[in-house]
Parts: sequence; C-alpha cells; structure tokens
Amino acid sequence: MKHIVSVDQFDKKFIDYIFKETDIISIMSGKDYRPLAGKVLTNLFYEPSTRTSSSFYSAMTRLGGNVIPINEVSYSSVSKGETLEDTIKTMGQYSEAIVLRHYMEGTARRASDVSYVPIINAGDGKGEHPTQALLDLYTITLELKNEPKVITLMGDLLHGRTVHSLSKLIRIYFPNVKLCFVSPSALRMPKELVNDGDEEFINIDSIINQTDVLYMTRIQKERLDTGFSFDTYKLTKEDINKAKRDMIVMHPLPRVDELPTELDSDPRCVYFKQIKYGLYIRMALLKYVMLDEY
Ligand code: NCD
Repeated sequence: MKHIVSVDQFDKKFIDYIFKETDIISIMSGKDYRPLAGKVLTNLFYEPSTRTSSSFYSAMTRLGGNVIPINEVSYSSVSKGETLEDTIKTMGQYSEAIVLRHYMEGTARRASDVSYVPIINAGDGKGEHPTQALLDLYTITLELKNEPKVITLMGDLLHGRTVHSLSKLIRIYFPNVKLCFVSPSALRMPKELVNDGDEEFINIDSIINQTDVLYMTRIQKERLDTGFSFDTYKLTKEDINKAKRDMIVMHPLPRVDELPTELDSDPRCVYFKQIKYGLYIRMALLKYVMLDEY
C-alpha cells in the first residue's frame, strides 16, 4: 500500500516523478480535471492545523473528490476512548486515503501498520512532515535560479518536524549541498540528523552572506516543557541586507515573531508562494496514493 510516512522512503526517481506530476497539475489547475471524482479523503487531525488541512482539502476537491474533515477529535469517538487503530480502521471503510496529524512521534507508522487505505503523515509530533518537505524542496527547485551550495535551517531545530524531514530530503536531492543549522543552543538539530561537513551556529551573522536558501521556523512552544529556557532569535532587515541578491527565504508558517512582516515585500521572501506550490504537490501526492499510476 502506498503510505507516505517518512522521507526515508523516497528516492530521487520518486521525487522527480512527483515534481513532474506537480508541474502538469499546476498547468491543469482551473481546468475541468477530475481524476479523483468519486473518491473520498479523510482528514484526521489530532493537532491544530490551518495550512496542511486546508491544503489537502483544497487539493482533493480540486481533483474532483470529497473530504471527510475531522479537525477536532474531541467531538469524535476519540473522546469516548476509541483507540487510534480502531479510528483508522473505521475511516478506511469510508475513504480511499487518510491524512493523519498527531501529537505523538511514530503515530503515522503505527496507523500504517493497521490501515486498510494509504496513510499520509501530515506531521507526527516532533517526528516528520514528509509532504511539507516535498513542497519545500519543490519550492527550492522553482524559486532558485542555480543549484544551491549552502542551505541554512534556522529556528527550533530540536522540535521542528519540518526541518527534520527537509534536511533528510535535501541530502537525497542535492547530495553536495552544505547544510548549516542556526538555533539557540538548547534547540539544536538532533545529533542523528547532523552529518560531517554540516555546520552549527547560534546566530545567522557569519553565514547569511553565503546562504542560498534560508529556511526559518518558529519556536515549537507546545512541545517545550514549562521552564525550558532558550534565547529568542529573529531575522532582521539588516540580516537580509547582507544576504545574496538571488537567495530565497522560506518558512513553513505559522510564524510568530522570528520573521517580521516588514520583510514580506522583499522578492526573496517566497513563503506565500511556497503555500501555493504545496497545494499542487498535495494534488500530485493524492493522485499517487489513490490511483495506480506509479
Ligand atoms: C508546520 C507544522 O505543523 O509542523 N506547519 C505546517 O504544516 N505548515 C510548522 C509549525 O507548526 O511550526
């Protein structure tokens, strides 16, 4: 079954296939194109979401399908004590795939072990967010004129699942790129995701002028123990002024105060375009899991 649980399952050939499909879908967008007519997707979200749930909803309906949106599990049988496994097996009777977001790492894998239909991991705690990583990488390929040499990930690298998935995906797609990690010392990238040749910093100063892609993330305060202390960080206009003219700034959003809105008008800031590319990537992924084409 075509589950999407971790970026570890992807190779360059699969990524290229999805990107090519995404290119085609973005051209078809707005036309009468309904390859998923008659199919149903379950959106099962145990954690808050604006972009990911809406993006899958929009993707599925644009392809002619329908969505069962379960965005507030406290109103579902979960509040009666139903296990994740039973909920997954149940929703598999109503739909052709399940998009699952959960606050516990490893939950997408657990669900995929029992599910009758493909599971798409839309974020499992601080684990992974593979569909976000694909849309992030797709954005890099479209928005950057040349192959990146230095990609800098900045923010809460300890708890941010987007950077966990993205760092692994970048290594598959751009094996020669240098990865730089900028974070408060208490929020460093997990050791197992740091390779020889990567560099770690506590601020952006010394690396901003070499960076081709700057990927910002917020502090994941819902994943911090109370009393956890860290320095705050912020991208400033002065930082951006020192950056390359053709670099790009990305963010999975939501942002808090690490990325001031005054930077939005800088053409290098592509985080709203990133959202649109995400819609097309998710359309391609839904086609992939629901149709027999790859
Ligand atoms: C991210 C997430 O949920 O991990 N949001 C998203 O899906 N675009 C990032 C975050 O919450 O900080």
